[in-house]
Amino acid sequence: MAVEPRNLSAVREPRDWAPASWQQKPSVQQPSYPDAQALSDALAQLRQLPPLVTSWEVLALKRKLAEAAAGRCFLLQGGDCAESFADCTSPLISNRLKVLLQMSLVLVHGLKLPVVRVGRFAGQYAKPRSADTETRAGETLPCYRGDIVNAPEFEARARQPDPQRLLLAHSRSALTMNFVRSLIDGGFADLHHPEYWDLAWVEHSPLQGEYRRMVDAIGDSVRFMETLAGPIGSFGKVDFYTSHEALLLHYEEAATRQVPRQWGWFNLATHFPWIGMRTAQLDGAHIEYCRGIRNPIGLKVGPGVKPDALLRTIDALDPGNEPGRLTLIHRMGAGRIGAELPALLQAVKGNGRNVLWCCDPMHGNTEALANGVKTRRFANIRAELDAAFDIHAAQGTRLGGVHLELTGENVTECLGGARDLTETDLARAYRSTVDPRLNYEQSIELAMLIVRKRGTLGGAVAP
Ligand code: PEP
Ligand code: CO
Repeated sequence: MAVEPRNLSAVREPRDWAPASWQQKPSVQQPSYPDAQALSDALAQLRQLPPLVTSWEVLALKRKLAEAAAGRCFLLQGGDCAESFADCTSPLISNRLKVLLQMSLVLVHGLKLPVVRVGRFAGQYAKPRSADTETRAGETLPCYRGDIVNAPEFEARARQPDPQRLLLAHSRSALTMNFVRSLIDGGFADLHHPEYWDLAWVEHSPLQGEYRRMVDAIGDSVRFMETLAGPIGSFGKVDFYTSHEALLLHYEEAATRQVPRQWGWFNLATHFPWIGMRTAQLDGAHIEYCRGIRNPIGLKVGPGVKPDALLRTIDALDPGNEPGRLTLIHRMGAGRIGAELPALLQAVKGNGRNVLWCCDPMHGNTEALANGVKTRRFANIRAELDAAFDIHAAQGTRLGGVHLELTGENVTECLGGARDLTETDLARAYRSTVDPRLNYEQSIELAMLIVRKRGTLGGAVAP
């Protein structure tokens, strides 16, 4: 069902904005390209290339996010912390799709709600970093900012920002999108064949039995409905949307387009850009860029953000209080969510703001082990999610989605979970060059835990 903006006239092109107006604002986390001409040549080429998504898909997703804010569906957003060019391969893309499809099946079945699926892929190539440079054995080089900027090897050449990478990122994103769309259009997501999504190592999983029972129950319902109503074609078709952090603003600007029969500007490099925690300054370039595009926008909200500041940022990004426009992704950490979140929920609710609340239980729970390896404990991820559901229920607000870092590979990057991975296990298959991700089993387990948690809240979830 379509949801109309509360105040249509307020939802229109913002004043004093242009795709390049962010350049007049302070911008953090941007690389410094050594050759300005090479950068502008690459951007000129990028502006000529066809977009990766269409405006009608962007607006369809916005309507679905409005539905999620109203409690009529649930957002599952997940994928790698950072994609890499080397990982643009058939097995990696299809395995990630498989785990997201399986999780969404668990959620649809358990929550009895449609799920809107959004991948952190087809453009998640730029990373914010805590320092501009990195020093090893006395040598200092620019930090690695993601494959769209430079390469991770600690060598001067690799670390030099290279504008040609903007074009490579665009084509890798297009290849990823193309494969995902073909798999889905070809019937990969067909509910009649959930076995297509099985990953080779699932048969050894302790969660296998529970998952199989769920698949069988869904298969029975599909067959039952088809007996009554004939073949149900739409079961074969699920939507998949893309998202990435709108970090590298030259790239985002080059993808910002006007389209026939629509007012305003769209970022057509992704359906759903989000603003990361390190670039959410109210007067900064990232808020400036995002306030002018018509896409739905995600905003990470971390510890220390004050209610007043959050309300001002909401005003900047969503002056028309448009349903589906703004998703607030809180990422406080298990230890801080109890102290930080309630006041924010009260302020946003008290001001009648129409946002979708989503929990990222990953980024507030990153820790470094004594040997320097970055990890996250499954128990903390779970604790933050559980607390998020409880706090929303207590405040009369609704947690309408989750934002996760995961992979379909059998990695060992996060501790704990059904197989209780230990510090020694981490050495076995730690592949992330950035943040630690949930592996397949941990992801499915988390989906099951979300269902159980929501079940225990029953009527306490805001209607
Ligand atoms: C991320 O989502 O990868 C990220 C860097 O998150 P945050 O901005 O919340 O730290
Ligand atoms: Co991350």
